[in-house]
Amino acid sequence: MSYRTLNRVSTLGFVVALFMLRPLGASAQVGSPAGAVPVDRLQARRAALMARMGSGVAVIRSMEERSDDPPDSEHPQDSDYREDSDFFYLTGLEAPGSWLILVAKERGAGEVYLYLPARNPVQERWTGPQLGPGAEAARLTGIPEANIRPAKDAEQALQTMVTDGGSPAMDGGLFFKEDARHGQLEVLHRILSLKTVKAKDLLPHLAALRQVKDQDEIARIRKAAQISAEGHVAAMKTAKPGIYEYEIEAVAEMTFRRLGAERLAYPSIVGAGINGTTLHYDKNRARTAAGDLIVMDMAAEYGYYAADVTRTIPASGMFTDRQKAIYNLVLGAQQAVMDSIRPGMTLLRLHQISVAYIQSHSNGLCGSQSCEKFYIHGCCHHIGMEVHDVNTNGPLVAGMTFTVEPGIYLPEEKLGVRIEDDVLVTPNGYELLSGAAPRTVEEVERVMRG
Ligand code: GLY
Ligand code: MN
Ligand code: MN
Repeated sequence: MSYRTLNRVSTLGFVVALFMLRPLGASAQVGSPAGAVPVDRLQARRAALMARMGSGVAVIRSMEERSDDPPDSEHPQDSDYREDSDFFYLTGLEAPGSWLILVAKERGAGEVYLYLPARNPVQERWTGPQLGPGAEAARLTGIPEANIRPAKDAEQALQTMVTDGGSPAMDGGLFFKEDARHGQLEVLHRILSLKTVKAKDLLPHLAALRQVKDQDEIARIRKAAQISAEGHVAAMKTAKPGIYEYEIEAVAEMTFRRLGAERLAYPSIVGAGINGTTLHYDKNRARTAAGDLIVMDMAAEYGYYAADVTRTIPASGMFTDRQKAIYNLVLGAQQAVMDSIRPGMTLLRLHQISVAYIQSHSNGLCGSQSCEKFYIHGCCHHIGMEVHDVNTNGPLVAGMTFTVEPGIYLPEEKLGVRIEDDVLVTPNGYELLSGAAPRTVEEVERVMRG
C-alpha cells in the first residue's frame, strides 16, 4: 500500500469520523488482556517518586518507535512497540514521542505534567488511534487535563522552569536517566547549561520503587507465571524423542499468546543434550534424541510484567538414574533457598545457601570434586517489568519478586539441569508463583506420560 493512495482518500469527513468513532484505548492497555493500570496506582507511584526526590524536576521520556524501514519512510511500522518501563510504570500509557515531567516540592507536594504528541489523522490511518492531549488522557492517567500539553512544547517548558522566576523546584536539581535515546541528553544538557542546575540520577529512585511491587504489579506477575507454567505443561506433553527444539518452543509460545501474553519475557531457550549446557542457548534448531535432557527456559510477559521459568525434562519421558541424581541435587538446592526466603534476607545470602547445599550433597556425583564447580551462575535475580529487574541490592522486603534458579551443567556428559521458579516475598516467607509447572521427577514423568 502506498502513502499517496491513502492521502487521496483523506477527506474532512474521514478525519471527523476518525476522531468520533475510533476508541483510544490502545494507548493505555485498555482492551489488552491485562487491562489498564488503575489510576490510583499510577498516582501513588508518582507521589512516591516525588517524595523520594524531595525537591527537584524529573524528566521521563517514552520509548521511541523503531523500524527497519528506510529512514525516509513516511509511515514506518514499528516491529513491536514496547513502552519504556519507567514511563509505563508512571503513566500506564503506550505513547511514543511523549514526556512526563514531575515537579517535586518539599514535604511531598508536587505537580505532574504530561506532554503528548498532537493527534495526526493521516498518521493514525496507518498506525491506529493515538492519545493526544485532552480529557481521555486525563481520565486514563489521573493527571489534571490542564497539565496535559502538546509534546512540541515540552522543551520550552523545561527552559522556562530554569529561567529566573521559573520553578523554584529546579533548585533541587534536574533528575533524569542517563539515556541517550531521543537525543535526550543533548536536550537536557542544553537546559542544564542555561543556569547552574544540579544534574541528578533518577535511576536509583525508580529502582527503589519498582523493586517492591504493588497489588496491580503482583497480579500481573502472578498471571505471567501461571501462563508460563501452563506453557511448560504443554511443552512437556509435546516432548518426545526426535522432536525438534523449535517445536517445543512453538507449543509453549502458542500457549503463552493464547492465554493473553503480549510478548515473551525473553527469547525462549530450548536446549537438548549438549545444548542444555549453554546457559542462554536460544537457537533452538536441534533435533532431540532419546536419552537427552531438555532444558526449557521459557516465559511470558503479561501486561508489561515478566515471569522467568525453567524446567528440565527427559526427551523420553523417563529420567535415567544419573539424570535423576543430578536433577534432585539441583531441586534440593532450590528448595533450600526457598525455605530461607523471608524479609531481611539478601539474594547474596540465598546464593551462598544454594552453594552450600550443593557442596554438602554432591556425594561423589561430580567425581572427586563438588558439583558446585559446575554451578556457574547466581541463584536469583529480581523480576518485574524487566526479566532481570531493577533493584538496589538491599535486604528482601515483602512485595519483592525474584527467581530461584540453581543449575548444574556437565558438557562432557551432554547433561544440563536448571530449575527456575518465581517467588513473591510475603511478610512471613514466600509465595511460589510458578508452582503450576511440575517440579519433581515424579510429577514431570507423570505429566509426560499423559
Ligand atoms: N531466562 C533468563 C534467565 O534465567 O536469567
Ligand atoms: Mn532467570
Ligand atoms: Mn530463565
